[in-house]
Amino acid sequence: MERLQKVIANSGYTSRRKAEDLITQGKVSVNGEIITELGAKVNRRDIIIVDGVAIDSVEKVYYVLYKPEGYVSTTDDEKGRRTVMDLVPSDKRVYPVGRLDYDTSGVLLLSNDGDFTNLMISPSHHVEKEYHVKMKGYLRKEESALLCKGIKIDNYVTKKAYIRNVVYNKANETSTATIVISEGKYHQVRKMFEAVNHPVLKLKRVRFGCVTLDKMKIGECRLLKPHELKQLKIMAE
Ligand code: URA
Repeated sequence: MERLQKVIANSGYTSRRKAEDLITQGKVSVNGEIITELGAKVNRRDIIIVDGVAIDSVEKVYYVLYKPEGYVSTTDDEKGRRTVMDLVPSDKRVYPVGRLDYDTSGVLLLSNDGDFTNLMISPSHHVEKEYHVKMKGYLRKEESALLCKGIKIDNYVTKKAYIRNVVYNKANETSTATIVISEGKYHQVRKMFEAVNHPVLKLKRVRFGCVTLDKMKIGECRLLKPHELKQLKIMAE
């Protein structure tokens, strides 16, 4: 059983706040009965109609965006900054599947399918995310091993990670590396490298599960291919 407003929002019909407004305005019915209280709970078999639209009839869409730096991964920003929504050519209300920092570029999925989003970001499912990192200083083998084994950030020990392609650039005293993690804690990659005293200078997510930036231009948004969607769901199981 889940709260009615959550089910409506997860369907992609509208935001949770607007769903609450629609409920209190008497525009939502469950199994033919108008519901105006916000605490109501429903299950999958209940027939929910919002303003004449059966909510499971909202078509699900799935996008991948090559997010540029300088965009927030939210649907709106109180500071008035550009959001990833400015780059999504959708008449449907989609929202980001997890987040990339304002200064991070790369693969960002967007969808109006709440179940899919939960599957992709839930900590109990492990979809790999691969990042190209440029950091200050020389990343030593021992530090890299520490990051791979698990390192403490914010009283939390990170799960196993993989690091490869470490290259040191002596001229500007920076290193580049590829890291693969299967979690998605807040600022995780930046905090991991910070923990070994190598602040991240540039961060790009080059892969989310099976979805890569292959042939995409920065700022480009495309629909996920059916095989990518299928594969992502399999990977999350
Ligand atoms: N880890 C970070 O620190 N930032 C991101 O944007 C993604 C992963």
